[in-house]
Amino acid sequence: MSQSTGFTGNPSPIKKVRKAVLPAAGLGTRFLPATKAQPKEMLNVVDKPQIQYVVEECVASGIEHVIIVTGKGKNSIEDHFDYNPTLERFLEEKGRSDQAEMVRHISDMVQVSYTRQKEPLGLGHAVLVAKDLVGDEPFAVLLGDVLIPGENPATEQLIRVYEATGIGAIAVEEVPREKTHLYGIVAGDPAPQGQFGERLLRIRELVEKPKPAEAPSNLSITGRYVLPPAIFECLERTKPGAGGEIQLTDALKLLAKEQGLWAYIYEGISYDAGDKLGFLIATVELALQNKELGEPFRSYLKGRKF
Ligand code: G1P
Repeated sequence: MSQSTGFTGNPSPIKKVRKAVLPAAGLGTRFLPATKAQPKEMLNVVDKPQIQYVVEECVASGIEHVIIVTGKGKNSIEDHFDYNPTLERFLEEKGRSDQAEMVRHISDMVQVSYTRQKEPLGLGHAVLVAKDLVGDEPFAVLLGDVLIPGENPATEQLIRVYEATGIGAIAVEEVPREKTHLYGIVAGDPAPQGQFGERLLRIRELVEKPKPAEAPSNLSITGRYVLPPAIFECLERTKPGAGGEIQLTDALKLLAKEQGLWAYIYEGISYDAGDKLGFLIATVELALQNKELGEPFRSYLKGRKF
């Protein structure tokens, strides 16, 4: 391993990536008042809640078991991925069996487990809460407020890197310099893995939300990760960082040092729906890509005077 990747390497055999952790315990304060009594993960984007896009990305990437880390007030997420016999029966009786089937498919597409983060101690802590459910195997992490539509899921791209090298991989993309304080930022060196071309970088440095002047590059962490189980032990050693929270980025720093970590400039476009403007932009872009609504919405926008 160390010869082919240039890393110290992951000492365990390479296992298939079957599980994904979706942190969904945040209070959604950037969306108030919309999130006063409803989880931000359930905010609707075009025709389905935000979290359904992310679960669908898991399914399209071959994930078999999704672990959602929830908290107080998040019960509607569980209801959304559960059966709703009353609704299904109602739709069947009205002859709308296609709708009944669509509703049922949401619960059938993948196995979902839930665990709760009891205190808002940060993203790293939320991932650590899933430790027992993940067990001793590699897993993906998907942040729910980043939507990446398309036929080539970012998570699947990272899984390919992990399964070929046994080294964790995180999705990155360029952001304007003045925005580095909103993201985790990485610096890396081109890696010698031919099949992934210039998209693969060996991580040298990671910083959570640096000021533009202090950022080691303009490559931001997108919110998709595939990690070996060793990350849990790194998280256990991670002290509160930026914002007083246990940051996943700080644990990744340890992992990068001890086993190595790839940054992968993934193919695709992400929409950061984590605040009101980003959410609005994501809504417009996904509406334009929507099979049913795309065309009429485009002609509405074209005809509108600005
Ligand atoms: C989190 C991560 C950050 C990453 C970002 C992507 O930050 O901590 O490293 O770049 O997601 O959206 P948050 O947006 O939760 O503050």
